[in-house]
Amino acid sequence: MEEVPEVEPRAGEVVVRSVATSVNPVDDKTREGAIGEGTPPLPMTLGWDLAGVVIDGGSSGLRAGERVVAMSHQLGTGRGTWADVVALPADAVAPAPTAVSLIEAATLPLPGLTALQTLDWLAVAAGDRLLVTGAAGAVGGLAVQLARARGARVDALVSREAQLDFVRAHGAEWATTDPADLQPRGYDAVFDTFGAFVTDAVADGGRYASIATQAGPVPDLSARRVRTTVNQVREDGAGLRELARLVDDGAVRPRVDSTFALRDIRAAHRRFGRGGLDGKVAVVF
Ligand SMILES: NC(=O)c1ccc[n+]([C@@H]2O[C@H](COP(=O)([O-])OP(=O)(O)OC[C@H]3O[C@@H](n4cnc5c(N)ncnc54)[C@H](OP(=O)(O)O)[C@@H]3O)[C@@H](O)[C@H]2O)c1
Repeated sequence: MEEVPEVEPRAGEVVVRSVATSVNPVDDKTREGAIGEGTPPLPMTLGWDLAGVVIDGGSSGLRAGERVVAMSHQLGTGRGTWADVVALPADAVAPAPTAVSLIEAATLPLPGLTALQTLDWLAVAAGDRLLVTGAAGAVGGLAVQLARARGARVDALVSREAQLDFVRAHGAEWATTDPADLQPRGYDAVFDTFGAFVTDAVADGGRYASIATQAGPVPDLSARRVRTTVNQVREDGAGLRELARLVDDGAVRPRVDSTFALRDIRAAHRRFGRGGLDGKVAVVF
């Protein structure tokens, strides 16, 4: 931890006093030096998620004192959220959900936007059959809930028996730990959060999205008319508003595995690195 000069907001930015953030896999990989090319230069501030209180809303319409959430594309811009005061473009910030604490809200922006934007790419609609892999993870767990809220029928592939009840309780109709159990050509869309590449499960003419950037591209399925992508999350204030509405409606429940003070950020990383998580590792300021 280091003292650095106060942030100088640029035109169109909102200044937020941080209340909480969370640890995402990308923070862990960036810290380890596993991202490689495209990593912002040192010294760098880590962190993508933010929940806090507006200090200066600028021209955004957000008022001083308002509770907000934000996602900063830290790898793309070098603007990390693990700081007491953060300045971000207004369209990366949105009012926080009111039904949950700011600690819970801080676990939503990166995984929630990833889930929302990828479900949009997959064009998941009412009645579609969707498979989510890694469905008990941060992105996967939110994807299951968001897809159910759209009226899709969701099945889940998880890593451990202990996660089966969780995914069923959050809306999965059927869940397994074994990829061999998946019905061949059984799904209109597959949302693959860890690079499972269970391509036999997608129906001909279907859609297959991975978010596991480091696992590489999805195999070419064009002969079966399956559209494929490796989706990359983007800053998205409108998406954050939609997530907040879904949380306040009770359709989406944030999950906190454990909470650490910022001064214990190393311990937070160690907890994250041990795995076996049951929700997000949150960090409070
Ligand atoms: N492209 C993008 O824009 C973007 C955005 C966000 C995240 N990501 C990436 O997406 C991945 C998921 O992120 P996340 O935040 O959801 O991580 P997470 O919370 O760690 O969830 C990953 C889930 O996948 C499960 N899993 C891992 N390997 C598995 C396997 N072989 N079989 C079955 N399940 C398996 C994990 O199970 P365990 O709990 O047992 O380990 C965990 O439940 C990460 O690699 C992250 O870097 C990419």
